[in-house]
Amino acid sequence: MKVAVPKEVWEGECRVALVPESVKKLVKAGIEVAVEKGAGEASFLSDAAYEEAGAQVEPDVSALLGGADFVLKVRPPMDHPTVGKHEVELMKEGAMLLTSLLPIKHLDAVRKLAAHKISAFSTDCIPRTTRAQSMDTLSSMANIAGYKAVLIAADQLAKYFPMFMTAAGTIFSAKVFVIGAGVAGLQAIATAKRLGATVTATDTRAVVKEQIESLGGKFAAVESSEDAQTASGYAKELSQDFYKKQSELIAAQCKANDVVITTALIGGVKAPKLITEEMVQSMQPGSVIVDLAAEAGGNCVLTEPGKTVVKHGVKICAPLNLPSDMPLHGSTLYSRNLTTFTLEFWKDGEFNLDLEDEIIAGALVTHAGEVRHEPTKKALEGGEG
Ligand code: NAI
Repeated sequence: MKVAVPKEVWEGECRVALVPESVKKLVKAGIEVAVEKGAGEASFLSDAAYEEAGAQVEPDVSALLGGADFVLKVRPPMDHPTVGKHEVELMKEGAMLLTSLLPIKHLDAVRKLAAHKISAFSTDCIPRTTRAQSMDTLSSMANIAGYKAVLIAADQLAKYFPMFMTAAGTIFSAKVFVIGAGVAGLQAIATAKRLGATVTATDTRAVVKEQIESLGGKFAAVESSEDAQTASGYAKELSQDFYKKQSELIAAQCKANDVVITTALIGGVKAPKLITEEMVQSMQPGSVIVDLAAEAGGNCVLTEPGKTVVKHGVKICAPLNLPSDMPLHGSTLYSRNLTTFTLEFWKDGEFNLDLEDEIIAGALVTHAGEVRHEPTKKALEGGEG
């Protein structure tokens, strides 16, 4: 089997799907690996490092993709800016693709993948089970986002994070409030604590109380018998009564904290609007909001995705691709997730595309000309995208 890794063409994307340490593992297992010349450059990984790891370095992306049985990518396939063709059209019919496809958001790519009979796996559709944990790119990348969000907040805040006792008197630690204690939120709590802040966090799933407290944070609970926890672990939507109570809690916390980091998503995709303009107005001038849900529209009504804006004296930061801003570790973790997936199904010198396997069944979006992922199928039938 020949694995190919093209250079990402998505604007601003600095990650690469495989790093040399993973190339070594795949080559050792008997898999041929080719990478596009310069594919790792934006992650500070040289062509020489890939060659040393056992990869072939290919300057021509059409030849690279056309000769591959399995293409590994970071972003969904798109129109290639220099070749003048869609990346899917450069692939050979019947080949496999593994990438973070986010299929419902990229229906045009899904249509092309199905038409080209590509077996496309989406890493974000891999079921979140214990067995699949080491393949979970959503967690690896959310972890980076949570960490970076705190660094951005510390950089933008008009105050210190830690408490200091200086000759000029005492400076009290910054107060940080985290909304949503999933993977990104928990990492934000841990990072803010490491920087010396006092941290409070809330979530609609009461199960996270213990996790927040184990990191040294304080759990701010909504007084309610409702709980958003579902069997898949994702949060579900709750009643208007719950959100009304939660809004009161968030309003009080916004007023009392210097930094608010928001990470709340419903079902992993939808961003509830939790911070109103009045709440922003109630914050001290010089405070900071980092809205990690910006890609899904944002948790704050004043968020402008991709920008930092100042409203009522509060800086509202809405970064869009934080894992790409830390490309070496972003690529390394992503690459390890993809390599684990590939080797999990590498049996007797070939990729075992076992349609009965729960990981394959969950991740396989298109196969043999059909769209298999039910929510994506519904979105296509509904004429979306
Ligand atoms: P996510 O990115 O979908 O959502 C972030 C957080 O926002 C969640 O904790 C959610 O409960 C919370 N939220 C939603 N609405 C909210 C609101 N109105 N106010 C406050 N918080 C709100 O979540 P993520 O990080 O992807 O994790 C989702 C679940 O999946 C968690 O239970 C996590 O433990 C689980 N998980 C399991 C894995 C595995 O077993 N392989 C791997 C990663 C996560």
